[in-house]
Amino acid sequence: MTDLKPIIEPLLLWYRANRKEMPWRLDPTPYHVWLSEIMLQQTRIEAAIPYYERFLAELPTVEDLAAVPDDKLMKLWEGLGYYSRARNLKKAAQAIVSDYGGVLPSDAEKLRKLPGIGEYTAGAIASIAYGKPEPAVDGNVLRVLARLCADSTDILLPQAKKNAAALLSEIYPTGSDAGAFTQALMELGEVICIPNGEPKCELCPIRACCRAFAEQATDRYPVRSPKKGRRMEKLTVLLLRSGDAYAVCRREKTGLLAGMWQFPNLPGHVSAEEVICYLKSIGLFSDSIRPCGDAKHVFTHVEWEMHGYLVECEQSGGDGFSWKTAEAIRHDCAIPTAFRFYENLL
Ligand code: ADE
Repeated sequence: MTDLKPIIEPLLLWYRANRKEMPWRLDPTPYHVWLSEIMLQQTRIEAAIPYYERFLAELPTVEDLAAVPDDKLMKLWEGLGYYSRARNLKKAAQAIVSDYGGVLPSDAEKLRKLPGIGEYTAGAIASIAYGKPEPAVDGNVLRVLARLCADSTDILLPQAKKNAAALLSEIYPTGSDAGAFTQALMELGEVICIPNGEPKCELCPIRACCRAFAEQATDRYPVRSPKKGRRMEKLTVLLLRSGDAYAVCRREKTGLLAGMWQFPNLPGHVSAEEVICYLKSIGLFSDSIRPCGDAKHVFTHVEWEMHGYLVECEQSGGDGFSWKTAEAIRHDCAIPTAFRFYENLL
């Protein structure tokens, strides 16, 4: 086992001199750290910051989050994607209010039992907000450790995270150093020991301890097996307009983007005649239809290839459709980013 003790001092010194300003670092309460870590799991720091600020302005306490109506919650999350994160935040907030008096527990094991909080988030909250010696191994930290130790374990295997956490647990500092150490490792991975392109070893405060640097082999770590391909799905999106109102509907309660608002759509790439025929079958009549553009959206496991039509309908209607003005849709409905191209046409 590689001894990582020698990295602590230089890494903490580097972090204290170079750390970036981030809003959750100004007042790292357990709620703030939790929210920021959930947002940052799938979102870049710069993109997350305005969401984080808006979310806390609307929901400043765990109690506010526990009581937020679902529509408002989805609106606050709109554009961030991976909406189950928001739903889990609310569920966990309810458990924190009922079981812990509204204060997140400091114990990593108790944190892990809350919805949406896994190994990583529990470690981040325990170390950053509570000063506990708990590692938080995200992709950045994993890469830093793979290079430090010249470890050839495939980083997509769960064992790689376990190994990294075990190595770090041996040496974790406590108190304010714990949170600084957690964030220093993450930030080193974000700005120096970067994933794409050459790492900036000449600026790295711990290169003297790095086996990959010593072996001039930083490009060989981390080892990653090729990802399985994504499924392609074709979709025809319908902007149905009647007067100044457009049709929107809810997605299924389960599955991808569960329960969110969307524009009516049909599986496959469907001709204008087929669209008119479908609309007739649900009691909507139109003699004006034209293509309004193609768009693509990439999810983790599936990619949508969308064709769109703008259809002028003689009257509103359709089971499960709500007809709203463009302004009302923007204001009231959380439409997933996947449909952004079409929402922008309203
Ligand atoms: N990435 C995720 N959480 C972070 C944090 N607290 N600091 C820097 N990068 C992060």
